[in-house]
Amino acid sequence: MKIGVVGTGFVGSTAAYTLAMQGVGSELVLVDHQPALAQAHGMDILHAVPFSHPVQIRSGDIADLRGADLVVVAAGVNQQPGETRLALLQRNAAIFGELIPQIVQAAPDAVLIIATNPLDIMTHIATRIAVAAGLPASRVIGTGTMLDTARFRALLGERLGVASGSVHAYVLGEHGDSEVLIWSSVHIGGIPLADFAAARGIALDDALRAEVDHGVRRAAYQIIQGKGATYFGIASAITALSRAVLFDERCVYTVSAMHSEVEGIPSVSLSLPGIIGRNGLTGTLKPVLNEAEHAALQTSASVILQHIQAMDA
Ligand code: LAC
Repeated sequence: MKIGVVGTGFVGSTAAYTLAMQGVGSELVLVDHQPALAQAHGMDILHAVPFSHPVQIRSGDIADLRGADLVVVAAGVNQQPGETRLALLQRNAAIFGELIPQIVQAAPDAVLIIATNPLDIMTHIATRIAVAAGLPASRVIGTGTMLDTARFRALLGERLGVASGSVHAYVLGEHGDSEVLIWSSVHIGGIPLADFAAARGIALDDALRAEVDHGVRRAAYQIIQGKGATYFGIASAITALSRAVLFDERCVYTVSAMHSEVEGIPSVSLSLPGIIGRNGLTGTLKPVLNEAEHAALQTSASVILQHIQAMDA
């Protein structure tokens, strides 16, 4: 299976390395507007391959994406310390306006995984371009709140004393400041969170909820403050999503996609639980939410729609 990675900055290069080390894809093509950077990353990852799985890896230009089954798009500028994801919109929208039509033309049969921020709006832009070129919208998937869901599970697992993979918890909506942690449906081993915590004498109080919420919602800002960018978590999310597509796994991930209506908000891209298979998003689940969560998801959808409408104005 051939995978293209367009944009080999922190996220794209780490995703390419992770894809290679986990044996996802048999051929990797790295593309960047700085060809020397893509070539150097390609060489560096090639030298790691003997310690891992066989994969052909090379750098090239957009035309070399021909025949790709999957293209990861991580091109664009990333947040600076203290900068919101939405602040990147104008610069990255201009890049996508040039780049996505070229990718779709070079690899019309590929599933596109979008990882550029502001993620939901970039997914919306990419979906519009892909659909105009004749691709089904289901073949454009944003990493969305997959990373936020992972953060939610990791922080809860630490506090509950269980592996994060055994914590079923979801973050929906914007991959950004308005994201919604769905506390009401958290369960561990089939046991609702409140019952699990009570049985183990864990105080599930407002302080713990606030601490976890802050830890999830502000994670990127804290990491960027410390090391300039985030890339290990998002690269792992991209790799898991790529594996689900290429191996037709039918996994449920909180990916960003274009929806005709969410909580009464029309035509908006954001994260809901989606079933991921060989042709991309094969189904979207309707989450069970309490009243406060419905309201928060509507607010999140409104934030995204406002920015889409401002961009279209
Ligand atoms: C983060 C970036 C990928 O949340 O938006 O780390």
